[in-house]
Amino acid sequence: MIHALYHFIYSEQPSSLQAQAHGKGGKMVINLFDLTGKVALITGSTKGIGRAIAQRMAEAGARVVISSRNQDACEAVAAQICASGGQAVAIACNINYREQLQHLVEESVRQLGQIDVLVCNAALNPWYGPSRDMPDEAFDKIMNANVGSAHRLCQRVIPAMAARGGGAVIIVSSIAGIQGTAMLGAYGISKAADMALARNLAVEWGPHNVRVNCIAPGLVRTDFARALWENPETYAATVARYPLRRIGEPDEIAGAAIFLASAAGSFITGQTLVIDGGGTIAG
Ligand SMILES: NC(=O)c1ccc[n+]([C@@H]2O[C@H](COP(=O)([O-])OP(=O)(O)OC[C@H]3O[C@@H](n4cnc5c(N)ncnc54)[C@H](OP(=O)(O)O)[C@@H]3O)[C@@H](O)[C@H]2O)c1
Repeated sequence: MIHALYHFIYSEQPSSLQAQAHGKGGKMVINLFDLTGKVALITGSTKGIGRAIAQRMAEAGARVVISSRNQDACEAVAAQICASGGQAVAIACNINYREQLQHLVEESVRQLGQIDVLVCNAALNPWYGPSRDMPDEAFDKIMNANVGSAHRLCQRVIPAMAARGGGAVIIVSSIAGIQGTAMLGAYGISKAADMALARNLAVEWGPHNVRVNCIAPGLVRTDFARALWENPETYAATVARYPLRRIGEPDEIAGAAIFLASAAGSFITGQTLVIDGGGTIAG
């Protein structure tokens, strides 16, 4: 899917796409999903959705920064990507801490020279239950990590993107930010705020060719959501509401991230792309 080549006559393409065109069989060919020459920083990329995004972005030609709280885990994933022909570096960062976010950005630029694509993927949810019982500390932690870290990373990364002529930011939100939920209150609020953050930044930075979008996955088979898919009864109740009758796999989110990061998504900004097997549109 990612490697599908789109054939165009060179002269008919907008100038932003012409730069990526190259000759093949006498015709000009363009790969709209090519990330060659780009540097992509992906938080929470040692597992699950973030890892799939990093791996696929590396396959699409990007040099990627692998990040999570655990430096050894980051190095292991970076080594795997390098072993399969990609380019990756490992920089640990706990998104709860501003100084670590600052270090992540500075170290990425020091090692790879620039950041063209920022994927704010890491998030947490320390509270599963009704809002009325939720401790204040859990509420603050969720908002600080899920909204605050995306805001802070964007503050630190976007101005340099703009100065270089543009870039793309992708925030991994959730359908919990679109629907009301009984047990995911503050998490859902944080994911809705991520969508508002993307819209605001899209308006602020659009004139500088920086695009900011969200992806809102439904249930995806990762450790983060294990409690919701491991139990057969919970799983059956969930997929009964999904027209595709199954949950998603991490790799099924990665293609959308590449789409939004690449020339294929060059006129999309401020949007939220829902990837949920149809879960939110079914009656
Ligand atoms: N899975 C789903 O069903 C689903 C649905 C909708 C949205 N999402 C969203 O998708 C994103 C990724 O979730 P996932 O399901 O892929 O989770 P996952 O498989 O548990 O992976 C989470 C990644 O984030 C890292 N991480 C955790 N806490 C961190 C912290 N404080 N600072 C930095 N990195 C941290 C983890 O590594 P370490 O633990 O080693 O730090 C790991 O690399 C999240 O934003 C989540 O809200 C998931």
